[in-house]
Amino acid sequence: MENSSITVSAPGKIHLLGEHAVVYGKPALLAAIDLRVTVKLNPTTYIDPIVHMYVRNTIEAVVKKYLKITNIPPYGSEISSQLPIGCGLGSSAAVSAAYIAALLTFLNIKWDKPLVNDLTYEAEKVFHGNPSGGDNSTVVYGGLVWFRKQSHNRKLIQPLNSPIPAQLAKNFILINTGKPKETTKQMVEIVSSKFNPSTSLRARLQSAKFRKLFDDQEQLVKGLVTVLKEGDENKLIQIIRAGEKNLESMGVVSSYVASIIRKIEKAGGAAKICGGGGKTKATGILLCYHPNKAIIEKIAEGNSLPFFSVDLGVEGLRKE
Ligand code: PMV
Repeated sequence: MENSSITVSAPGKIHLLGEHAVVYGKPALLAAIDLRVTVKLNPTTYIDPIVHMYVRNTIEAVVKKYLKITNIPPYGSEISSQLPIGCGLGSSAAVSAAYIAALLTFLNIKWDKPLVNDLTYEAEKVFHGNPSGGDNSTVVYGGLVWFRKQSHNRKLIQPLNSPIPAQLAKNFILINTGKPKETTKQMVEIVSSKFNPSTSLRARLQSAKFRKLFDDQEQLVKGLVTVLKEGDENKLIQIIRAGEKNLESMGVVSSYVASIIRKIEKAGGAAKICGGGGKTKATGILLCYHPNKAIIEKIAEGNSLPFFSVDLGVEGLRKE
């Protein structure tokens, strides 16, 4: 066992597009962002802040179960995060991935990204119920990730080779509308309750509507990949607007946030919720784009909401 402390970090993620539809086998495009979670394990100091005991217990249970380990020697752990929690930036996936990699290092178990990704997915199931696996894949592998859940245990995780062109990348900005009242798990359940063809005609019509929304998101995600390669700003704005409209039709965007997005659109930009969303008021982070970012900043200020810029497509899980 090593004497010195072990430090591992993982980035947060953002859904460029495809959330919710991804739960039903459609592709999503995600980007790792340059806000990181850092986990430090200390083999000689056994102090643990109470606040993350739930995380520690969950991760240890996953590692014990899947790697058939009976005993974990004592250690101390520290978690520090630059990510707002519960706002759609993948904080739970980033904490889990960094913690798992640090714990495996502490246990002298050789790990690679596929192993950490599989274990992080299991931890995400404990935290979120029925996750697609997109969040954990992005924080582990980093970069821009094309993700598709093909079946329960088959997932396509394809890194996009070229970065977002600089002339587009500089115009993205995030607004934090606050932590939603609803959890991602609840939002996923809301969509699944509507996309559930039962015998009544009304239910079948609603289900058909959702199928169409998911198909449409798939086409938009494919379009987004092309646009990000070619750098076409007008098409990018159109795709984000159309993707957001579909998310609103799925019922995952509150009217409060929809009204802010309308202001951004009216001013010539585009914005979308990222991740699970929310029904009551806050929906977490908004991904916004405008040829002149200052206009978005003004709208955020006018609504008393914090905003910030991030690098999209940064390095994934790494030992520090
Ligand atoms: O709210 P987040 O950041 O955990 O993102 C959830 C994305 C969903 O597509 C709604 C669910 C999933 O597991 O992919």
